[in-house]
This record gives sequence, C-alpha cells and structure tokens, in this order.
Amino acid sequence: MILQMKDIVKTYGNVVANDHVSIDLNEGEILAIVGENGAGKSTIMKILYGLEKADSGEITVWGEKVNFRSPIDAMKHHIGMVQQHFMLFGSMTVTENIVYNNEIAKNGFFDRKANREKVRQLSEKYGLMVDPDAIIDDCPVGTQQRVEILKTLYQDASLIIFDEPSAVLTPNEVDDLLRTLRELAKAGKSIILITHKLNEVMAVADRITVMRAGKVIKTLNRADTNTDELSYLMIGRHTADLQLRPHNPGETLLQVKDLTMGSAAGKKVLNGVNLEVRAGEIVGIAGVSGNGQTELVRCITGLEREYEGSVTVCGHDVSNKGVDTIRQAGLSHIPEDRYVWGSAREASLSDNFLMGEENSEKYSRHGVLKSKQIIEHADKLIAEYSVKVDNSRQKMKELSGGNAQKIITAREIEREVPLTIACEPTRGIDIGAMEFVHERLVNKRDHNGGILLVSSELSEILKLSDRIYVMYNGQLNHEFKHGEVDERKLGKLMLGGKADE
Ligand SMILES: Nc1ncnc2c1ncn2[C@@H]1O[C@H](COP(=O)(O)OP(=O)(O)OP(=O)(O)O)[C@@H](O)[C@H]1O
Ligand SMILES: [Mg+2]
Repeated sequence: MILQMKDIVKTYGNVVANDHVSIDLNEGEILAIVGENGAGKSTIMKILYGLEKADSGEITVWGEKVNFRSPIDAMKHHIGMVQQHFMLFGSMTVTENIVYNNEIAKNGFFDRKANREKVRQLSEKYGLMVDPDAIIDDCPVGTQQRVEILKTLYQDASLIIFDEPSAVLTPNEVDDLLRTLRELAKAGKSIILITHKLNEVMAVADRITVMRAGKVIKTLNRADTNTDELSYLMIGRHTADLQLRPHNPGETLLQVKDLTMGSAAGKKVLNGVNLEVRAGEIVGIAGVSGNGQTELVRCITGLEREYEGSVTVCGHDVSNKGVDTIRQAGLSHIPEDRYVWGSAREASLSDNFLMGEENSEKYSRHGVLKSKQIIEHADKLIAEYSVKVDNSRQKMKELSGGNAQKIITAREIEREVPLTIACEPTRGIDIGAMEFVHERLVNKRDHNGGILLVSSELSEILKLSDRIYVMYNGQLNHEFKHGEVDERKLGKLMLGGKADE
C-alpha cells in the first residue's frame, strides 16, 4: 500500500466537509472517488495535495507519516495533481511549461535541445502525444491537459490525482484520457480519479470509493459492481428514464439569419448560420468545441456585437445589440464557463441569484432592494435544486464546483422569460441533480418555453432535443428530429463526416 489516509476530518465553519474519511491506494491502481456534489471529494484530495490542512487524521505515503503544508511538500513525496483549471503559461511552449522551474541548463542557459528531448522521451514513454514546440494558447484543451499530466510526470510523480478531468473534454479527448490513465497504471503509477461519469469509472477503475455528506459510504471492487448500484449508493435512489412527450411548437422565439463572423486571422468562425427555436421546443446543437458554438452563443446573447446577419429574440430585432437589451427582449443564458461569466465568487449566494434582476419590480421598489423576497427566492431555489449550502448568505466561492454550477443553472432556468440559451447546463453536476435539471428544462418546454441547448454531452443532446443541429467548421449542416439519429452517427458528423457514411 502506497497511501493511507486515516480518519481525516475537515470542517469549514458549520460544514463538515470530511467526516472521518479513510482512503487507501495500492501501487499501479486506479481508484475512483464518486459522490454527490458537496460530498467532500475535492476536499479530501486538496488535503492530500497540501492545498488544505486537515483538522485531524493521519496520512501515510510510502510508509512515511506526512504532514504537508503545501503542494511543494506533496510533490517532494511524488504526489502530483492535474487541476481542472490548468495552471499553464499560455504564451510559452509545451516544453517550457513542462520543465518550468526544473529546466536542464547548459553553461547557465536554458538548453532548448536537451529539454525538448526530455519532453519527447516522456511523451513517448507514456503515449502522451504533444508537439514540444507548440504554444500552449494554440493547443486544444485535450492537449493542454496532456501537458499538465506530463508536468506531473516530469516532476517524478508516482501518485497522480485527477479531479473531474473529463468535464472540459470532447468525447474523443475523453477516450484518449481514459487510455492514458490505463497506460500510467500499467507503468506502475497510482491514480485517484474523481468523476461524475459512471461509464468512465466502469471503464478504468480498479476500486471505487463512494462518498456522501462528508463520509465514505462504501469502497467496492469495480468487478463486483455496476452503474445502477453506484448511482444508488451515491444518491440513495434509482434514476428514472426521462421521456419527451410529443408537443407542438408555437411561435418563433429565436431566429438567427445568415450569421457570419470572421476571426482576427481572417478565417470565418461563423459562416452563414441559420437557426430557429420555437416556443415549446428544445433545440440541441451538437459539435466538437471550437467549431463556432461559443461564438454563435456570444452573438445571440450580445457578448459579441461584431458580426453580419440578424438575430431576432421574441419578435425584437436585437442584431448587434448588447447584453442588457437582449436580456430584456426575453432571454436567459446559462454560460459555458461559470467562472468567467455568470457568477461573482466573492458575492453571497442570494446576490448571485439576483444577478440580472436587480431592477425588476419583483425584487426592488424605487431603487430599494426587497431583501425578504430576495432571500426567499434564493432559499426556494436552493431547496428545489438541492444545492448543498449552509445558508444563502455564504459566498459563492465556498461552494463545491457542482453546487456553484447548480446556482447558475437554477437562476437562468427559473427566470420568467420565454427563451433560454443553455450551455453545458449540467457540467460538473452529479447524476441526481442532473436528472432534476433535465426535468426542469423539459418542464419549461412543456410550458411553451424555447430552449437552445449547447452541450458536449451527446447523451444529453439526444435525450432532451426535439430537433438537433450539427455544428462543424462554423456551419450548421444537418438537422434531425428527436429519435432520428444516434450517438455514433452524430459523433461522425461532428467530425465533418457525411450523413450517409
Ligand atoms: N473554502 C470553503 N469554505 C466553506 N465551505 C467550503 C469550502 N470549500 C468547500 N466547502 C464545503 O465543503 C463541502 C465539500 O466540498 P467539496 O468541494 O469537497 O465537494 P465535492 O464532493 O468535490 O463536490 P463537487 O462534486 O460539486 O465538486 C461542501 O459543502 C462545500 O460547500
Ligand atoms: Mg469537487
């Protein structure tokens, strides 16, 4: 056994994030940690990596009792962590990032050739393909993640922690990641993987630890369990299969015509996009990220105003208009990246729920906020979406990743407007809460709301969408009705394949 964490306790004020948690790990093993949002998964790993200090408990690595004060201590003990928000220097090369702080020098200077050779060897040894000379900002997310992994390997990590590594990846990149995890384990590395995706767990884990409300509920061998049992252990009930009831769409809520947008490099990021969302329908956009989805949503929501073509929201021509005007026309927006858009990390939860409605009659009168109504609204959504919090005065940054996402998703779905642009609405959300978010989106559709759903989760697109468009290379090329297309075919079209292949 290379790692033993015993009886770890960690509290934040009234919240017991880890309640006598014990976890152990063998050499060459992949241990998955699963559990609801706020169960304490990230906390126990932050403690292991020296980012947080436990109140009590014991940690033994490779037979030595340790007490890490920082990640530097953890690295010295061969523990590495691949963070979800990568810690890379965007303007530097792959090689420079990997060897950063441990460069091979010759006569006091950075030895480009030797460093590049070292990176090439590492990348070959573990099958982690990267171009040593590429600039990080030009690399897709999957490549940036490989650079993070190579960095931990370069620092000689033997135990590597991954906290929700697949949340930001495309389906193909996820396959590559899972292959990499297996390769690493085969090479004797020990892996801890936190994920909400049980198919990933079943594909790579040797053992699985289930956490709930700060405690370890059970540790099982992968071979002795299945996704049903795991989801039952995680959320205490079985998940139901959601079925779309037939529903006739009404008037057009969103009309996009001939939308075209160029990039600084002169390439067309959006190329003549036409699209329509009607009242009472969910329209899904499937596509590998980087094919124009982000830009399309930015144009529709007013974050981007420099484009040709027109956008109409609920009968108002909002072409080239700004965010406020478009919101007032009747649109809500769950943004793709909750950390950049949509949330104020230092603000309270109730203030975050209020964002965008500060001036509405419901929550303010003659410029004075109605605090009772605001708190009531926040408490209601917190309960409905089972957001795990202590109270609504807490700061956003104190929430676990999935619980922060739930706040944004709840706020935007429950806004009383006809049209919702939902981008990755369930990213990082546990399977129980995901089911609820799906129900709410469908409920909104059943009550004549219109929803544009942009998601890298194909299963989500297929399950919820009345119509599906495929986005590739800045264009919407294909359109399908619910049930007309499956995951394999969509996957091909997303990569630019033909419909009849
Ligand atoms: N800095 C903090 N201040 C206050 N509470 C915190 C802080 N960090 C975490 N918590 C609380 O500790 C609990 C466990 O959080 P943690 O991030 O470990 O959950 P998680 O299992 O990783 O959830 P998720 O699946 O959403 O990422 C949560 O209730 C969270 O609100
Ligand atoms: Mg977490």
